[in-house]
Amino acid sequence: MDIAEGMLQHAREQGGAHHHVAGDAERLPLRDASVELIFSSLAVQWCGDFRAVLSEARRVLQPGGVLAFASLCVGTLHELRESWQAVDGLVHVNRFRRLEDYQRLCGESELQVLSLAARPHVLHYPDVRSLTHELKALGAHNLNPGRPAGLTGRARMQGLLQAYEGFRQPLGLPATYQVVYGVLQKPSVEGE
Ligand SMILES: C[S@@+](CC[C@H](N)C(=O)[O-])C[C@H]1O[C@@H](n2cnc3c(N)ncnc32)[C@H](O)[C@@H]1O
Repeated sequence: MDIAEGMLQHAREQGGAHHHVAGDAERLPLRDASVELIFSSLAVQWCGDFRAVLSEARRVLQPGGVLAFASLCVGTLHELRESWQAVDGLVHVNRFRRLEDYQRLCGESELQVLSLAARPHVLHYPDVRSLTHELKALGAHNLNPGRPAGLTGRARMQGLLQAYEGFRQPLGLPATYQVVYGVLQKPSVEGE
């Protein structure tokens, strides 16, 4: 399932799933107690209402069913965020929920939290352009939210490249993805 038809088409071309359904994680187009397992990869960070995601998961899961998700939290792309801040003091990277918010919302849901933890994954890129190219596909990065007075687009980009170079490691320019992994279960008996 994905909210974007284009992504479903891409997934169809890859094969591997029997059904591809357009739908919103905050309003699942599925019947109550109809699935045993929900597995979600890198999607729910875009859902403004994570409480709704959890309550929808609870609704469609069968008793004993499991929701397993991987998502992103604060700390993701901190190198890019800090580099932009050094250039123009603006935030160019989407804000992510804090791990504490995931913990609170999962704890308040009527699902049992089997595990919930964050782990950093650091990818390396040869240059900033290859990173921002990839981020465009992810939708995590906004390069042009308005131009501050005094700096041309070219000067800002030069400033960004220079600032990001400060993070360079032997493997290349690092980009940290702070990944939160959650496994939650719907109680087998209502009210447990
Ligand atoms: C980084 S991609 C991950 C795609 C796929 N799950 C994977 O692991 O390869 C994020 C996906 O989340 C989808 N998405 C964003 N908001 C959504 C929502 N409210 N409900 C369902 N999918 C959503 C986007 O359309 C996008 O395809």
